Amino acid sequence: MGFTGLFLIAFLIVHAGLNATIFMNDDGETFNKTSHFMSHNWIMRFLELGLFIGFIIHIVQGMILTRMNRAARPVKYSKTRYISKIKWYSRYMGILGILILLYLIMHLAHFWVETKSELYFGAEEVNQYERMREVFTQPLWFVLYMVGLAALLYHLLHGFQSAFQSLGMNDKTWTPLVKKLGVAYSVIIVLLFALMPIAFMVGWL
Ligand code: HEM
Repeated sequence: MGFTGLFLIAFLIVHAGLNATIFMNDDGETFNKTSHFMSHNWIMRFLELGLFIGFIIHIVQGMILTRMNRAARPVKYSKTRYISKIKWYSRYMGILGILILLYLIMHLAHFWVETKSELYFGAEEVNQYERMREVFTQPLWFVLYMVGLAALLYHLLHGFQSAFQSLGMNDKTWTPLVKKLGVAYSVIIVLLFALMPIAFMVGWL
């Protein structure tokens, strides 16, 4: 789970970085060019396949881990005082994961399905920048994107340091550093993603 988690963490850096070209104030020209390259280059399409496999393995591993944890403790603790130090979101990683999966289904329906119909069925090329404007200026989608990103924030706040811990990095020097890095990463990435719908909604773009 640590490996697939780190792989997805790396994907989010690339995805947020490439999408951030919408802020270049050129009416989405750079962003659309980048998006065209990413969706039409065969190396990228091969990597995309790896990405989807990464997502699926991560979800399956999460389900197995939840079952193993439940099986290890079939009878619930009578006192729950011991968990007071554990953050609430660390105990709800599965629920947050499900919310992110729902978010992802909505997100792919908005931005990915049409690109694929263009590639495989010869439909007209999508202007992804204008598509963003169309989606993010509708209140329902805007709110659902914000909810999905809030779930992502909490999932990452636990997931980042947990991934390193799963890979065996757990000592007095590194763990506090990894924790701080995890908070910085989660806040910056989610804020950057959130600024995209916000920028369209309030008319900055
Ligand atoms: C709200 C900010 C976001 C925006 C504006 C955005 C935009 C886009 C766009 C335009 C595409 C289509 C790329 C193309 O094929 O031309 C895309 C694809 C995708 N997005 Fe996002 N995205 C955002 C957040 C996220 C988040 C948070 C995740 C993961 C949790 C994510 C996961 C994906 C995946 C898996 C794909 C399909 C693979 C790919 O084409 O790279 N996106 N996104």
